[in-house]
Amino acid sequence: MKKFFLSALLLSGLMAPLAVSAVDTYTPTEENLQSRQDFADRRFGIFLHWGLYSMFAQGEWFMQNAGISYEEYSKSASAFYPANYNAHDWVAAIKASGAGYITITTRHHDGFSLWDTKQSDYNIVKATPFHRDVLKELSEECQKQGIRLHFYYSHLDWGREDYPVGRTGRECGKDASKADWKHYYKFMNNQLTELLTNYGPIGAIWFDGWWDHDSDPTPFNWELPEQYELIHKLQPACLVGNNHHMAPNPGEDIQIFERDLPGENTAGFVDKAAEVSRLPLETCTTMNGMWGYKIVDQNYKSLDELVRLLVNTAGKGANLLMNIGPQPNGELPATALSRLHDMGQWMDAHGETIKGTEAGDIPVQSWGATTRKGNRLFVHILDYKNNELYLPLTCKVTKAFVYDTKAPVKVTKTQNGVVITLPEVPSGTDYIVELQTK
Ligand code: GLC
Repeated sequence: MKKFFLSALLLSGLMAPLAVSAVDTYTPTEENLQSRQDFADRRFGIFLHWGLYSMFAQGEWFMQNAGISYEEYSKSASAFYPANYNAHDWVAAIKASGAGYITITTRHHDGFSLWDTKQSDYNIVKATPFHRDVLKELSEECQKQGIRLHFYYSHLDWGREDYPVGRTGRECGKDASKADWKHYYKFMNNQLTELLTNYGPIGAIWFDGWWDHDSDPTPFNWELPEQYELIHKLQPACLVGNNHHMAPNPGEDIQIFERDLPGENTAGFVDKAAEVSRLPLETCTTMNGMWGYKIVDQNYKSLDELVRLLVNTAGKGANLLMNIGPQPNGELPATALSRLHDMGQWMDAHGETIKGTEAGDIPVQSWGATTRKGNRLFVHILDYKNNELYLPLTCKVTKAFVYDTKAPVKVTKTQNGVVITLPEVPSGTDYIVELQTK
Protein backbone atom coordinates (compact mmCIF):
# COMPACT_ATOMS: atom_id res chain seq x y z
CA MET A 1 0.00 0.00 0.00
CA LYS A 2 2.62 2.44 1.13
CA LYS A 3 4.56 4.02 -1.67
CA PHE A 4 2.45 3.79 -4.82
CA PHE A 5 -0.77 4.48 -3.02
CA LEU A 6 0.62 7.63 -1.49
CA SER A 7 2.26 8.86 -4.65
CA ALA A 8 -0.96 8.36 -6.58
CA LEU A 9 -2.90 10.39 -4.05
CA LEU A 10 -0.25 13.04 -4.19
CA LEU A 11 -0.30 13.04 -7.94
CA SER A 12 -4.06 13.36 -8.20
CA GLY A 13 -3.89 16.20 -5.70
CA LEU A 14 -1.21 17.94 -7.68
CA MET A 15 -2.90 17.41 -10.96
CA ALA A 16 -6.35 18.57 -9.99
CA PRO A 17 -6.01 22.27 -10.72
CA LEU A 18 -4.25 21.76 -14.04
CA ALA A 19 -5.97 21.50 -17.38
CA VAL A 20 -7.17 17.96 -18.02
CA SER A 21 -4.70 16.10 -20.18
CA ALA A 22 -4.81 12.46 -21.18
CA VAL A 23 -2.55 11.57 -18.24
CA ASP A 24 -5.07 12.89 -15.75
CA THR A 25 -7.95 10.90 -17.14
CA TYR A 26 -6.58 7.59 -15.88
CA THR A 27 -7.17 7.14 -12.20
CA PRO A 28 -6.03 3.75 -10.96
CA THR A 29 -8.45 1.97 -8.65
CA GLU A 30 -7.45 1.09 -5.12
CA GLU A 31 -7.15 -2.58 -6.14
CA ASN A 32 -4.76 -1.51 -8.84
CA LEU A 33 -2.66 0.53 -6.44
CA GLN A 34 -2.46 -2.39 -4.05
CA SER A 35 -1.45 -4.66 -6.90
CA ARG A 36 1.31 -2.20 -7.85
CA GLN A 37 2.68 -2.36 -4.35
CA ASP A 38 2.43 -6.14 -4.25
CA PHE A 39 4.24 -6.29 -7.59
CA ALA A 40 7.00 -3.97 -6.41
CA ASP A 41 7.40 -5.88 -3.15
CA ARG A 42 8.16 -9.06 -5.05
CA ARG A 43 11.19 -7.48 -6.70
CA PHE A 44 12.16 -10.59 -8.68
CA GLY A 45 10.30 -12.38 -11.47
CA ILE A 46 11.02 -14.95 -14.16
CA PHE A 47 10.26 -14.26 -17.82
CA LEU A 48 9.50 -17.20 -20.10
CA HIS A 49 9.70 -16.95 -23.90
CA TRP A 50 8.16 -20.10 -25.31
CA GLY A 51 6.46 -20.87 -28.59
CA LEU A 52 6.95 -22.53 -31.98
CA TYR A 53 10.25 -20.68 -32.33
CA SER A 54 11.65 -22.80 -29.50
CA MET A 55 11.68 -25.74 -31.91
CA PHE A 56 14.09 -24.02 -34.27
CA ALA A 57 16.32 -23.29 -31.25
CA GLN A 58 17.55 -19.98 -32.67
CA GLY A 59 15.64 -17.46 -30.61
CA GLU A 60 12.17 -15.96 -30.91
CA TRP A 61 12.97 -13.79 -33.93
CA PHE A 62 13.90 -16.78 -36.10
CA MET A 63 11.08 -16.37 -38.61
CA GLN A 64 11.94 -12.74 -39.28
CA ASN A 65 15.72 -13.12 -39.04
CA ALA A 66 15.85 -16.06 -41.42
CA GLY A 67 13.34 -14.40 -43.78
CA ILE A 68 10.99 -17.38 -43.69
CA SER A 69 7.45 -17.04 -44.99
CA TYR A 70 4.65 -17.34 -42.48
CA GLU A 71 3.15 -20.12 -44.57
CA GLU A 72 6.25 -22.31 -44.25
CA TYR A 73 6.93 -21.38 -40.64
CA SER A 74 3.42 -22.10 -39.46
CA LYS A 75 3.68 -25.72 -40.65
CA SER A 76 5.97 -26.30 -37.70
CA ALA A 77 2.91 -26.18 -35.43
CA SER A 78 2.05 -29.71 -36.52
CA ALA A 79 5.33 -30.88 -34.93
CA PHE A 80 5.09 -29.00 -31.64
CA TYR A 81 4.74 -31.62 -28.95
CA PRO A 82 6.43 -30.52 -25.72
CA ALA A 83 6.15 -33.98 -24.18
CA ASN A 84 7.90 -33.09 -20.92
CA TYR A 85 5.93 -29.94 -20.15
CA ASN A 86 4.92 -30.01 -16.52
CA ALA A 87 3.50 -26.78 -15.16
CA HIS A 88 3.90 -27.97 -11.59
CA ASP A 89 7.64 -28.45 -12.03
CA TRP A 90 8.13 -25.09 -13.75
CA VAL A 91 6.30 -23.22 -11.04
CA ALA A 92 8.00 -25.14 -8.23
CA ALA A 93 11.50 -24.47 -9.65
CA ILE A 94 10.72 -20.80 -10.22
CA LYS A 95 9.15 -20.32 -6.83
CA ALA A 96 12.10 -21.99 -5.14
CA SER A 97 14.38 -19.36 -6.74
CA GLY A 98 12.71 -16.68 -4.65
CA ALA A 99 10.92 -15.18 -7.65
CA GLY A 100 7.46 -13.82 -6.91
CA TYR A 101 6.00 -13.85 -10.40
CA ILE A 102 6.17 -15.44 -13.84
CA THR A 103 5.68 -13.52 -17.08
CA ILE A 104 5.05 -15.81 -20.05
CA THR A 105 4.67 -15.10 -23.77
CA THR A 106 1.07 -15.87 -24.61
CA ARG A 107 1.55 -14.84 -28.23
CA HIS A 108 4.85 -13.55 -29.58
CA HIS A 109 5.55 -11.76 -32.87
CA ASP A 110 5.19 -15.02 -34.84
CA GLY A 111 1.48 -14.87 -33.99
CA PHE A 112 1.18 -18.35 -32.46
CA SER A 113 -1.08 -18.47 -29.39
CA LEU A 114 -0.09 -20.62 -26.44
CA TRP A 115 -3.68 -21.11 -25.25
CA ASP A 116 -7.02 -22.38 -26.44
CA THR A 117 -8.06 -19.14 -28.12
CA LYS A 118 -11.31 -19.04 -30.05
CA GLN A 119 -10.02 -16.12 -32.12
CA SER A 120 -7.61 -18.12 -34.29
CA ASP A 121 -6.91 -21.79 -34.94
CA TYR A 122 -3.19 -21.05 -34.93
CA ASN A 123 -2.88 -22.12 -31.32
CA ILE A 124 -1.45 -24.87 -29.17
CA VAL A 125 -4.72 -26.75 -28.79
CA LYS A 126 -5.93 -26.71 -32.39
CA ALA A 127 -2.78 -26.51 -34.50
CA THR A 128 -0.46 -28.88 -32.62
CA PRO A 129 -0.67 -32.59 -31.79
CA PHE A 130 -0.15 -31.63 -28.12
CA HIS A 131 -3.73 -30.34 -27.82
CA ARG A 132 -3.15 -29.07 -24.27
CA ASP A 133 -3.84 -25.56 -23.09
CA VAL A 134 -0.44 -24.93 -21.52
CA LEU A 135 -1.48 -21.53 -20.15
CA LYS A 136 -4.46 -23.05 -18.39
CA GLU A 137 -2.18 -25.60 -16.74
CA LEU A 138 0.29 -22.89 -15.82
CA SER A 139 -2.33 -20.56 -14.41
CA GLU A 140 -3.79 -23.33 -12.26
CA GLU A 141 -0.36 -24.19 -10.90
CA CYS A 142 0.44 -20.55 -10.21
CA GLN A 143 -2.74 -20.25 -8.20
CA LYS A 144 -2.03 -23.50 -6.35
CA GLN A 145 1.53 -22.58 -5.51
CA GLY A 146 0.73 -18.93 -4.84
CA ILE A 147 2.81 -17.03 -7.38
CA ARG A 148 1.68 -14.13 -9.56
CA LEU A 149 1.17 -14.78 -13.26
CA HIS A 150 1.77 -12.07 -15.87
CA PHE A 151 1.05 -12.35 -19.58
CA TYR A 152 3.33 -11.02 -22.31
CA TYR A 153 1.28 -10.10 -25.38
CA SER A 154 2.71 -8.99 -28.73
CA HIS A 155 1.03 -6.04 -30.36
CA LEU A 156 2.60 -6.90 -33.67
CA ASP A 157 2.05 -10.04 -35.75
CA TRP A 158 4.28 -11.26 -38.57
CA GLY A 159 1.67 -13.65 -39.90
CA ARG A 160 -1.79 -12.11 -39.77
CA GLU A 161 -2.75 -10.15 -42.84
CA ASP A 162 -5.02 -7.80 -40.91
CA TYR A 163 -2.06 -6.47 -38.89
CA PRO A 164 -0.72 -3.41 -40.72
CA VAL A 165 2.88 -4.34 -41.46
CA GLY A 166 5.48 -2.23 -39.71
CA ARG A 167 9.23 -2.12 -39.94
CA THR A 168 9.63 -5.85 -39.13
CA GLY A 169 8.08 -8.95 -40.65
CA ARG A 170 8.42 -7.66 -44.20
CA GLU A 171 9.99 -10.90 -45.41
CA CYS A 172 7.23 -13.08 -44.04
CA GLY A 173 5.14 -13.13 -47.20
CA LYS A 174 2.12 -11.10 -46.12
CA ASP A 175 -0.06 -9.25 -48.58
CA ALA A 176 0.21 -5.80 -47.01
CA SER A 177 -2.79 -4.54 -48.98
CA LYS A 178 -5.02 -6.74 -46.81
CA ALA A 179 -4.23 -4.81 -43.64
CA ASP A 180 -7.35 -4.11 -41.62
CA TRP A 181 -6.52 -2.40 -38.33
CA LYS A 182 -10.07 -2.38 -36.97
CA HIS A 183 -10.33 -6.12 -37.53
CA TYR A 184 -6.93 -6.78 -35.96
CA TYR A 185 -7.65 -4.53 -32.99
CA LYS A 186 -10.88 -6.40 -32.32
CA PHE A 187 -9.00 -9.70 -32.58
CA MET A 188 -6.46 -8.53 -29.98
CA ASN A 189 -9.12 -7.27 -27.62
CA ASN A 190 -11.06 -10.52 -27.95
CA GLN A 191 -7.89 -12.46 -27.14
CA LEU A 192 -7.12 -10.22 -24.17
CA THR A 193 -10.68 -10.74 -22.96
CA GLU A 194 -10.15 -14.50 -23.06
CA LEU A 195 -6.85 -14.21 -21.21
CA LEU A 196 -8.41 -12.04 -18.54
CA THR A 197 -11.55 -14.13 -18.18
CA ASN A 198 -10.49 -17.77 -18.29
CA TYR A 199 -7.09 -17.87 -16.59
CA GLY A 200 -7.70 -16.63 -13.08
CA PRO A 201 -6.18 -13.45 -11.66
CA ILE A 202 -3.56 -12.02 -13.99
CA GLY A 203 -1.00 -9.74 -12.37
CA ALA A 204 -0.08 -7.83 -15.52
CA ILE A 205 -0.38 -7.64 -19.27
CA TRP A 206 3.08 -6.96 -20.70
CA PHE A 207 2.82 -5.48 -24.18
CA ASP A 208 5.60 -5.55 -26.73
CA GLY A 209 5.89 -4.46 -30.34
CA TRP A 210 4.82 -0.81 -30.20
CA TRP A 211 8.19 0.05 -31.71
CA ASP A 212 7.22 -1.75 -34.93
CA HIS A 213 5.58 1.48 -36.10
CA ASP A 214 7.93 3.96 -34.46
CA SER A 215 9.34 5.12 -37.80
CA ASP A 216 6.02 5.53 -39.61
CA PRO A 217 5.75 8.89 -41.39
CA THR A 218 2.54 9.65 -39.50
CA PRO A 219 2.19 8.45 -35.92
CA PHE A 220 0.46 5.08 -35.78
CA ASN A 221 -2.61 5.01 -33.57
CA TRP A 222 -2.52 1.82 -31.51
CA GLU A 223 -5.69 2.89 -29.64
CA LEU A 224 -3.98 2.04 -26.39
CA PRO A 225 -6.16 3.95 -23.90
CA GLU A 226 -9.27 1.99 -24.90
CA GLN A 227 -7.36 -1.29 -24.77
CA TYR A 228 -5.94 -0.47 -21.36
CA GLU A 229 -9.40 0.46 -20.18
CA LEU A 230 -10.72 -2.91 -21.28
CA ILE A 231 -8.00 -4.65 -19.27
CA HIS A 232 -8.70 -2.58 -16.17
CA LYS A 233 -12.41 -3.19 -16.55
CA LEU A 234 -11.95 -6.96 -16.79
CA GLN A 235 -9.45 -7.14 -13.92
CA PRO A 236 -8.88 -3.86 -12.06
CA ALA A 237 -5.82 -5.30 -10.28
CA CYS A 238 -4.17 -6.29 -13.56
CA LEU A 239 -1.26 -3.96 -14.23
CA VAL A 240 -0.54 -2.71 -17.72
CA GLY A 241 3.03 -2.38 -18.95
CA ASN A 242 4.35 -1.64 -22.41
CA ASN A 243 7.88 -2.29 -23.62
CA HIS A 244 7.95 0.83 -25.78
CA HIS A 245 11.20 2.10 -24.25
CA MET A 246 9.70 5.50 -23.42
CA ALA A 247 8.16 7.27 -20.46
CA PRO A 248 4.80 5.68 -19.58
CA ASN A 249 1.57 6.50 -21.40
CA PRO A 250 -1.77 7.13 -19.72
CA GLY A 251 -3.25 3.88 -18.46
CA GLU A 252 0.07 2.15 -17.84
CA ASP A 253 0.74 0.96 -14.31
CA ILE A 254 4.38 -0.08 -14.52
CA GLN A 255 7.38 1.18 -16.44
CA ILE A 256 9.51 -1.35 -18.29
CA PHE A 257 13.21 -1.13 -19.13
CA GLU A 258 14.68 -3.65 -21.55
CA ARG A 259 18.24 -4.79 -20.82
CA ASP A 260 18.90 -1.59 -18.88
CA LEU A 261 18.55 -0.46 -15.32
CA PRO A 262 16.15 2.49 -14.96
CA GLY A 263 17.76 5.66 -16.20
CA GLU A 264 20.53 3.91 -18.12
CA ASN A 265 20.79 3.62 -21.84
CA THR A 266 23.31 0.94 -22.67
CA ALA A 267 20.96 -1.09 -24.86
CA GLY A 268 20.42 1.95 -27.08
CA PHE A 269 16.74 1.44 -27.90
CA VAL A 270 15.97 5.13 -28.03
CA ASP A 271 18.31 8.02 -28.52
CA LYS A 272 18.16 8.86 -24.85
CA ALA A 273 17.32 6.98 -21.67
CA ALA A 274 13.58 7.00 -20.96
CA GLU A 275 12.64 9.34 -18.17
CA VAL A 276 12.14 7.35 -14.97
CA SER A 277 8.57 7.71 -13.75
CA ARG A 278 7.05 7.25 -10.30
CA LEU A 279 5.36 4.03 -11.36
CA PRO A 280 6.72 0.66 -10.22
CA LEU A 281 9.77 -0.08 -12.36
CA GLU A 282 10.84 -3.32 -13.98
CA THR A 283 14.04 -4.22 -15.79
CA CYS A 284 13.93 -7.28 -17.99
CA THR A 285 16.96 -9.13 -19.24
CA THR A 286 18.14 -12.55 -20.31
CA MET A 287 19.85 -15.25 -18.26
CA ASN A 288 21.97 -16.12 -21.29
CA GLY A 289 21.91 -13.93 -24.42
CA MET A 290 18.58 -14.66 -26.10
CA TRP A 291 14.94 -14.55 -25.02
CA GLY A 292 13.66 -17.61 -26.88
CA TYR A 293 15.56 -20.93 -26.61
CA LYS A 294 18.81 -20.78 -28.58
CA ILE A 295 20.76 -23.99 -28.60
CA VAL A 296 24.19 -22.46 -29.25
CA ASP A 297 23.77 -19.82 -26.54
CA GLN A 298 25.37 -21.24 -23.42
CA ASN A 299 26.54 -17.86 -22.25
CA TYR A 300 24.66 -18.02 -18.96
CA LYS A 301 25.20 -15.39 -16.31
CA SER A 302 26.90 -16.80 -13.23
CA LEU A 303 25.16 -16.82 -9.87
CA ASP A 304 27.37 -13.91 -8.87
CA GLU A 305 26.28 -11.89 -11.88
CA LEU A 306 22.62 -12.67 -11.30
CA VAL A 307 22.76 -11.66 -7.64
CA ARG A 308 24.60 -8.45 -8.45
CA LEU A 309 22.07 -7.61 -11.12
CA LEU A 310 19.23 -8.19 -8.70
CA VAL A 311 20.90 -6.11 -5.99
CA ASN A 312 21.65 -3.22 -8.34
CA THR A 313 18.11 -3.33 -9.71
CA ALA A 314 16.61 -3.32 -6.20
CA GLY A 315 19.02 -0.49 -5.34
CA LYS A 316 17.30 1.50 -8.08
CA GLY A 317 13.90 0.69 -6.61
CA ALA A 318 13.08 -1.63 -9.52
CA ASN A 319 12.09 -5.25 -10.12
CA LEU A 320 14.27 -7.66 -12.05
CA LEU A 321 12.51 -9.85 -14.62
CA MET A 322 15.01 -12.54 -15.57
CA ASN A 323 14.34 -14.50 -18.75
CA ILE A 324 14.60 -18.20 -19.47
CA GLY A 325 13.80 -19.78 -22.86
CA PRO A 326 12.19 -23.19 -22.23
CA GLN A 327 13.20 -26.00 -24.59
CA PRO A 328 10.88 -27.36 -27.28
CA ASN A 329 10.42 -30.53 -25.23
CA GLY A 330 8.82 -28.47 -22.49
CA GLU A 331 11.73 -28.51 -20.05
CA LEU A 332 13.60 -25.55 -18.68
CA PRO A 333 17.28 -25.78 -19.74
CA ALA A 334 19.45 -27.57 -17.17
CA THR A 335 21.72 -24.56 -16.59
CA ALA A 336 18.72 -22.31 -16.02
CA LEU A 337 17.33 -24.80 -13.50
CA SER A 338 20.62 -24.88 -11.69
CA ARG A 339 20.74 -21.06 -11.54
CA LEU A 340 17.16 -20.99 -10.19
CA HIS A 341 18.21 -23.40 -7.48
CA ASP A 342 21.30 -21.37 -6.55
CA MET A 343 19.39 -18.09 -6.60
CA GLY A 344 16.91 -19.73 -4.24
CA GLN A 345 19.64 -20.51 -1.77
CA TRP A 346 20.87 -16.94 -1.90
CA MET A 347 17.33 -15.57 -1.59
CA ASP A 348 16.51 -17.86 1.33
CA ALA A 349 19.39 -16.32 3.24
CA HIS A 350 19.15 -12.72 1.99
CA GLY A 351 15.74 -12.26 0.35
CA GLU A 352 14.45 -9.89 3.01
CA THR A 353 17.13 -7.35 2.01
CA ILE A 354 15.60 -7.32 -1.50
CA LYS A 355 11.89 -8.19 -1.28
CA GLY A 356 9.60 -5.53 0.12
CA THR A 357 12.36 -2.92 0.01
CA GLU A 358 12.63 0.46 -1.63
CA ALA A 359 15.66 2.06 -3.21
CA GLY A 360 18.06 2.88 -0.36
CA ASP A 361 19.24 6.31 0.73
CA ILE A 362 22.35 6.23 -1.41
CA PRO A 363 22.07 5.86 -5.21
CA VAL A 364 23.79 2.86 -6.81
CA GLN A 365 27.58 3.26 -6.47
CA SER A 366 30.61 1.58 -8.01
CA TRP A 367 31.01 -0.39 -4.76
CA GLY A 368 27.38 -1.56 -4.58
CA ALA A 369 23.86 -0.49 -3.72
CA THR A 370 21.51 0.20 -0.82
CA THR A 371 17.96 -0.93 -0.13
CA ARG A 372 15.65 0.18 2.64
CA LYS A 373 12.82 -1.46 4.58
CA GLY A 374 11.36 0.78 7.27
CA ASN A 375 14.13 1.76 9.65
CA ARG A 376 16.51 -0.87 8.25
CA LEU A 377 19.00 0.23 5.63
CA PHE A 378 20.84 -2.58 3.85
CA VAL A 379 24.22 -1.70 2.45
CA HIS A 380 25.10 -4.23 -0.24
CA ILE A 381 28.84 -4.18 -0.80
CA LEU A 382 29.51 -5.86 -4.13
CA ASP A 383 32.92 -4.63 -5.09
CA TYR A 384 35.09 -2.97 -2.46
CA LYS A 385 38.34 -4.13 -1.00
CA ASN A 386 38.77 -1.98 2.10
CA ASN A 387 37.23 -2.30 5.54
CA GLU A 388 36.34 1.38 5.86
CA LEU A 389 33.52 2.72 3.75
CA TYR A 390 32.16 6.27 3.69
CA LEU A 391 28.39 6.58 3.37
CA PRO A 392 26.81 9.98 2.67
CA LEU A 393 23.86 9.48 5.03
CA THR A 394 21.70 12.14 6.59
CA CYS A 395 19.85 9.78 8.93
CA LYS A 396 21.09 8.76 12.37
CA VAL A 397 22.49 5.24 12.66
CA THR A 398 21.45 3.53 15.91
CA LYS A 399 22.82 0.05 15.28
CA ALA A 400 25.12 -1.51 12.66
CA PHE A 401 26.17 -5.08 12.01
CA VAL A 402 27.18 -7.53 9.29
CA TYR A 403 23.94 -9.11 8.08
CA ASP A 404 25.22 -12.70 7.80
CA THR A 405 27.35 -12.97 10.95
CA LYS A 406 25.73 -10.26 13.07
CA ALA A 407 29.28 -9.06 13.83
CA PRO A 408 29.14 -5.43 15.02
CA VAL A 409 30.19 -2.66 12.68
CA LYS A 410 31.70 0.56 14.00
CA VAL A 411 30.02 3.76 12.85
CA THR A 412 31.92 7.07 12.95
CA LYS A 413 30.06 10.28 12.27
CA THR A 414 31.70 12.60 9.74
CA GLN A 415 30.67 16.00 8.50
CA ASN A 416 28.57 14.68 5.60
CA GLY A 417 27.64 11.22 6.74
CA VAL A 418 29.30 8.26 8.41
CA VAL A 419 32.25 5.96 7.95
CA ILE A 420 31.55 2.33 8.71
CA THR A 421 34.41 0.15 9.86
CA LEU A 422 33.86 -3.49 9.01
CA PRO A 423 35.35 -6.39 10.96
CA GLU A 424 37.06 -7.56 7.74
CA VAL A 425 37.61 -6.64 4.11
CA PRO A 426 34.30 -7.41 2.34
CA SER A 427 34.28 -10.59 0.31
CA GLY A 428 31.76 -12.90 -1.34
CA THR A 429 29.00 -12.10 -3.81
CA ASP A 430 27.21 -9.50 -1.73
CA TYR A 431 28.56 -8.46 1.67
CA ILE A 432 25.56 -6.96 3.41
CA VAL A 433 25.70 -4.54 6.32
CA GLU A 434 22.47 -3.71 8.13
CA LEU A 435 22.12 -0.25 9.57
CA GLN A 436 19.22 0.58 11.81
CA THR A 437 18.40 4.22 11.49
CA LYS A 438 16.31 7.02 12.88
C1 GLC B 1 12.21 -7.24 -27.62
C2 GLC B 1 12.14 -8.38 -28.62
C3 GLC B 1 11.33 -9.50 -28.16
C4 GLC B 1 11.40 -9.82 -26.71
C5 GLC B 1 11.36 -8.57 -25.86
C6 GLC B 1 11.56 -8.87 -24.41
O1 GLC B 1 11.15 -6.38 -27.74
O2 GLC B 1 11.60 -7.96 -29.82
O3 GLC B 1 11.58 -10.60 -28.92
O4 GLC B 1 10.27 -10.56 -26.43
O5 GLC B 1 12.30 -7.68 -26.29
O6 GLC B 1 11.89 -7.74 -23.71
